Amino acid sequence: METSLQSLLFLSLLLCCTTNQALTAHLTVSPSSSQMFKGEFVTLSCEEDDSSAGWTLRRNTTTETRTECGVKWGRSTGSSCIISYIQRLDSGVYWCESREGATSNSINITVTDGSVILQSPVLPVMEGDDVTLHCKTKTSNFTADFYKDGSLIRTEPAGHMTIHHVSKSDEGLYKCHNSSHGESPSSWITVTVKPTTTSQPTSPSTSSPSSTSPPSSSTSPPSSSTTPHPPVLWSVAPVCVLVLLVVLVLLVRRCVRRKPKEI
Ligand SMILES: *[C@@H]1O[C@H](CO)[C@@H](O)[C@H](O)[C@H]1NC(C)=O
Repeated sequence: METSLQSLLFLSLLLCCTTNQALTAHLTVSPSSSQMFKGEFVTLSCEEDDSSAGWTLRRNTTTETRTECGVKWGRSTGSSCIISYIQRLDSGVYWCESREGATSNSINITVTDGSVILQSPVLPVMEGDDVTLHCKTKTSNFTADFYKDGSLIRTEPAGHMTIHHVSKSDEGLYKCHNSSHGESPSSWITVTVKPTTTSQPTSPSTSSPSSTSPPSSSTSPPSSSTTPHPPVLWSVAPVCVLVLLVVLVLLVRRCVRRKPKEI
């Protein structure tokens, strides 16, 4: 009996803790590319665990600031937002924002009227990971020249290039070009340095030399950039208090009921 109550208490505490942690959101985009052709059907999703926090999708473009999905642009469907025919003026930075002002990661989207895009990772890439860039037309891949910060770095017959064991020096502005199809817009690739713990004097470079590098799950998911603001935590506190109160009441009730039986 005691143990079941204890476990109930423990569970409710766990619930409180997990809801506290869940008050972050993660923005994803489909197709997963920071460059898109005009006319593409695009879905942006706030992946959140607590919809009661009132996450909304917002964006900054050259002409708009902090405009909300479903109001000025896009069609809101639950936690997703659909742009059924994306256009150049939809280029901008997108993010999820809670009622209290907590923000998710943000995603830069560039829409082109042209016929070439560079498909690069939407999210920052971890140092040591491999990154593949695709130079694409609407229909096919093709021989492409890849540029970083304005300089030609590689020509790839298959239209895609992979950078192995990315390091901070790979960060930069990338684009691709093909003689018959033209040039893609440029996209910034961000490299996140793997979080180093405070006591780590022995560890050499973060990229492991082994050819079979461990999956990226070895470190925490890239949600490190999401910072829940203190107000969010405050809004959760009442819920925890309520849950604990209910548990307490149950506890007292049981004790009261049980006593006469036992004595
Ligand atoms: C959006 O624009 C506002 C106003 O210029 C700025 O304060 C904010 O940081 C921008 N948001 C992002 C994610 O760039």
